[in-house]
Amino acid sequence: MKRPILIHPDPRLKKVCAPVPDLSDELRVLADDMLETMYDAPGIGLAAPQVGVLDRLIVLDCVKDEAEAPRPLIMFNPEVIAASDDESTYEEGCLSIPEQYAEVTRPAEVTVRWIDRNGNEQQEDFGGLWATCVQHEIDHLNGRLFIDYLKPLRRQMITRKMQKLKREKARA
Ligand code: NI
Repeated sequence: MKRPILIHPDPRLKKVCAPVPDLSDELRVLADDMLETMYDAPGIGLAAPQVGVLDRLIVLDCVKDEAEAPRPLIMFNPEVIAASDDESTYEEGCLSIPEQYAEVTRPAEVTVRWIDRNGNEQQEDFGGLWATCVQHEIDHLNGRLFIDYLKPLRRQMITRKMQKLKREKARA
């Protein structure tokens, strides 16, 4: 089932999310719903606070080539345990900040540890778009948005645009 995506500014997008102590059917349904919501948007990543749930859960699939098989990843309690000194810059966007994009510089490679949908611990090295995306999504769990990396003026401009968008949506 698709879930509505919160649009910035929203206090729930600024909260530090709580670790998931035990997996439950409810959490698996949430993860599946988030993947459905993400693919439908369409997007390449989504974090639980973006659907109003303050749990440490993210989903992502950065396979861009339509000829390639999709690779949906569900990560409970994801943690960056190592990051490269090498950095890379990508133009980032966010489903909670529609149609706004900006370049963000982050470590080019990260090692991430997480609990998968079956409750098993996983660890993997990510590079390229996957590295950027997984860091962007984990940031969401700490109440951090990609616009927080921008200069204050630019950030305020985007926030004002989003406030206007939300007013228009509320009126429609
Ligand atoms: Ni985002």
